[in-house]
Amino acid sequence: MNRTLFVAGNWKMNKTTAEARDLVSKMLAPLREISNVEKVLCPPFTSIPAVSPLLEGSGIGLGAQNLHWEEKGAFTGEVAANMVKEFCRYVIIGHSERRTYFGETDETVNRKLRAAIKVDLIPIVCVGETLDQFESGQTAEVVRRQIRLGFAGLGTAYVSRIVVAYEPVWAIGTGKASSGENANTVHGKVIRPALAELFGDRNAEAMRILYGGSVTAANSSEFFSQSDIDGGLIGGASLKPDEFVAITKAALR
Ligand code: PGA
Repeated sequence: MNRTLFVAGNWKMNKTTAEARDLVSKMLAPLREISNVEKVLCPPFTSIPAVSPLLEGSGIGLGAQNLHWEEKGAFTGEVAANMVKEFCRYVIIGHSERRTYFGETDETVNRKLRAAIKVDLIPIVCVGETLDQFESGQTAEVVRRQIRLGFAGLGTAYVSRIVVAYEPVWAIGTGKASSGENANTVHGKVIRPALAELFGDRNAEAMRILYGGSVTAANSSEFFSQSDIDGGLIGGASLKPDEFVAITKAALR
């Protein structure tokens, strides 16, 4: 199966609109030149309208970092899927920082995923175990459960477009990345089989599974050369134009 590699930059809570424009201007030209990789930038909500016109026609997609599952109403501070869709084609769902600091669960991930699909957004769904779970050998069990509950009850019609990001919590922002081999084992032996159980082999084979957690220009090829790693979700390094461009180049297979 030839899956197009996918590299997304998750800017998290960084950059004012002026800084966001500046960051995009520093990577736009070299990123445009990299074809055959699906490229996505996910700025904070406030910078999305500023970044949107800069990316138009560039082949670089725009994504949000979150959404709410309800269509509208009294949900102070939240943003609905159709509002995200006004500007974006992609949305990150269930990032571990949202699970850890904002009480998101596999159930809320499932609701958000359905809301995203309903408006035709491409979701990037994050899963991954904590350090404790990793050290006590629970990775497979935890990730399998996150997939089973997070993806519960979805039809198969849309599913091959959904992107999954395996992000071990202990590797995020710590400078302590997983190894390519370890991540590839989780992707190929745990995540893809769990997706196949829900959606069939064909759909599971088509779905991109990204690795995320301390990816840098120096270690990106180690991940992207693995058989079941289809790209990366990049945090810290996506704020450094040269690094992000180099990581995206490494995704050229
Ligand atoms: P990091 O973050 O690259 O800074 O480790 C990855 C992520 O949280 O998506």
